[in-house]
Amino acid sequence: MYIHVLGSAAGGGFPQWNCNCANCAGLRNGSISAQARTQSSIAISSDGENWVLFNTSPDIRAQLAAFPPLQPARNLRDTGITAIILMDSQIDHTTGMLMLREGCPHNVYCSDMVLEDLSTGFPLFEMLKHWNGGLNHHPIQLNKDDYSEAGSFSIPGIDKLRFHAVPIKSKAPPYSPHRHDSHVGDTIAMCIEDEVSGKTLFYAPGLGDPEPHIIALMEEADCLLVDGTFWREDEMAFSGVGTKLAADMGHLPQSGDAGMISLLRDMQKPRKVLIHINNTNPILVEDSSERAKLDQEGIEVAFDGMDIEL
Ligand code: MLT
Ligand code: MN
Ligand code: ZN
Repeated sequence: MYIHVLGSAAGGGFPQWNCNCANCAGLRNGSISAQARTQSSIAISSDGENWVLFNTSPDIRAQLAAFPPLQPARNLRDTGITAIILMDSQIDHTTGMLMLREGCPHNVYCSDMVLEDLSTGFPLFEMLKHWNGGLNHHPIQLNKDDYSEAGSFSIPGIDKLRFHAVPIKSKAPPYSPHRHDSHVGDTIAMCIEDEVSGKTLFYAPGLGDPEPHIIALMEEADCLLVDGTFWREDEMAFSGVGTKLAADMGHLPQSGDAGMISLLRDMQKPRKVLIHINNTNPILVEDSSERAKLDQEGIEVAFDGMDIEL
């Protein structure tokens, strides 16, 4: 399976348009060693021609332009996007759907909770009905008591890849009817299995509270692409840009006794890659002590254009 990182930043991107935090200002004025990043999305394919897009970022036009396989030009109007999987209904993961309106109908796989948010608080499914039929919804079935089979599916046109969805604990967006009342399916993780190589990718850009059965799945994967949003639990306040804690936003920070670094430390099998990195995170600075700590721990930081083959 081919995995291409289209966007590795969290909501806002890096630098964020209105932000003058040390990282955003430092990137703009060239005083730090770092690279710009667009908002969170990856593409996966088994043949290099037919791709599944995971999330549709507000930066999707630039992301498509930067990755020619998604514009194969076989017809007057064409795309390499065969299907779209939404991991949640957050703005940074869904707004790009509006930019894809000229190519409707699209096949969109998401949970009932995400469909509800995107039909009410942010009614993309309703709006896009006015463009050539809009979005064909394919439900991702989830069963809180059966993580192994309930969310398992294949996608027509995507050969030899098997998709397993698992509900995870994170937070629905502010415009969701259940922002303060978490429901199964507000956020999912995906295990993608290559039926030929037998390799699996575990993808979870928003992973607030990994439960034991999720940790077990992560341990078995060949590669992890997981929540790299914050270094510190209080990073928004620490950077002077906000008040919300990582937990309020459904993200597990890297540092701390129960943070992502200590969670990943015991995992022997997988390649470990952080994605969905907020612009305040010191790991974006390539010569920072925090980045050196990740290097020591064998943890990589995803970048736009990163390719992984499993
Ligand atoms: C998140 O990941 O917590 C959200 O995408 C934040 C946002 O709205 O940008
Ligand atoms: Mn986000
Ligand atoms: Zn910033």
